Amino acid sequence: MFASFKSIASYIPERVFKNSDFEKIIDTSDEWIVKRTGIKERRFAAEHEATSDLAFEASKIAIQRAGIDAEEIDCILVATISPDFLCMPSTACVLAERLGIENIPAFDISAACSGFIYLLSIAKAYVESNTYKNILIVGAEKLSAITDFSDRSTCVLFGDGAGAAVIGTTQEKSSSVLDISISSNGKYQDFLVTPGGGSRTPIRADNVDKNLQYMKMKGNETFKLAVKTLASDVKDILQRNNISPKDIRFFIPHQANLRIIKAVGELLDFSIEQSVITVDKYGNTSAASIPMAMNDIYEEGRLKKGDLILLDAFGGGLTWGSALLYFNGGNLI
Ligand code: ACO
Repeated sequence: MFASFKSIASYIPERVFKNSDFEKIIDTSDEWIVKRTGIKERRFAAEHEATSDLAFEASKIAIQRAGIDAEEIDCILVATISPDFLCMPSTACVLAERLGIENIPAFDISAACSGFIYLLSIAKAYVESNTYKNILIVGAEKLSAITDFSDRSTCVLFGDGAGAAVIGTTQEKSSSVLDISISSNGKYQDFLVTPGGGSRTPIRADNVDKNLQYMKMKGNETFKLAVKTLASDVKDILQRNNISPKDIRFFIPHQANLRIIKAVGELLDFSIEQSVITVDKYGNTSAASIPMAMNDIYEEGRLKKGDLILLDAFGGGLTWGSALLYFNGGNLI
């Protein structure tokens, strides 16, 4: 028995925040943001919406599209760096309650922008060891809640959203999640960090005054390492599976920066038609970015059952990962 990618769905918050909106609050310009990142606008969740609310909207649709009832989900996994609550309960437990599902395992993982691929690797292992049959995996972020809107080097980059998928079973390798690789290197932990709020720097008024509860990033250093790591990771997984870039229907990289996506695509010989790009309209939504991008091409009618796709991500930790899979979702509902 193999793990199979049965459905995809996303939730995109309503509020559009354009680059010109940033021009009103910080020293920046639409021209700088577009040239350096490719981002034109991003979505922000409403004040009352938490990460689990975004996850819930995407999950409902993912379950429906998988053709199962919520009661058939036997495990819920959420990847997020902006959980509803810092320590507990997990966003996965809150989500399970919203979905009306009780007495199944539900937990969060922390792997920043690589979170969705990390989840997929856990789901594949559970399904193929016959532990669970229908696993809901969700990448969901309300990054606007952990963004410092006075720091122009980070605030223009991020957005909110959620993407969800159901991982089930198949007997056919040609409709399975073929291979996944995940990795990390804590040597670069200070490249992307939310310094305050954890046990190292607990929440205290003086730490909050220094804005330590928000994301900080060494952008330039991260950029260089991202291109190198993503390209070599993808080369490895393709070689290991004896697949050439032209056999891939869609290359769906994490959406952090258009320049990174283009550089990696060029190094790997992916055509512009193969590379999926959504960073222009959603910005970087961390763990949600890959499933949101995947859902866009699904809803556009481009992603079809049987398509071989390649996912590739890189993020805080540092973490990275790639996945090769045949999409096994049904028709759009
Ligand atoms: N508007 C105008 N100017 C700006 C802005 C802004 N919003 N932000 C920075 N600048 C200025 C800087 O102050 C600097 O000015 P200086 O030369 O006078 O000092 C200049 O622009 C260049 O800054 P750099 O940081 O060198 O710009 P760079 O070309 O590297 O682009 C960016 C920055 C977009 C952040 C890029 O480095 C990047 O995308 N890095 C990788 C991001 C990534 O992949 N992250 C991993 C995933 S995220 C996660 O895991 C949550």
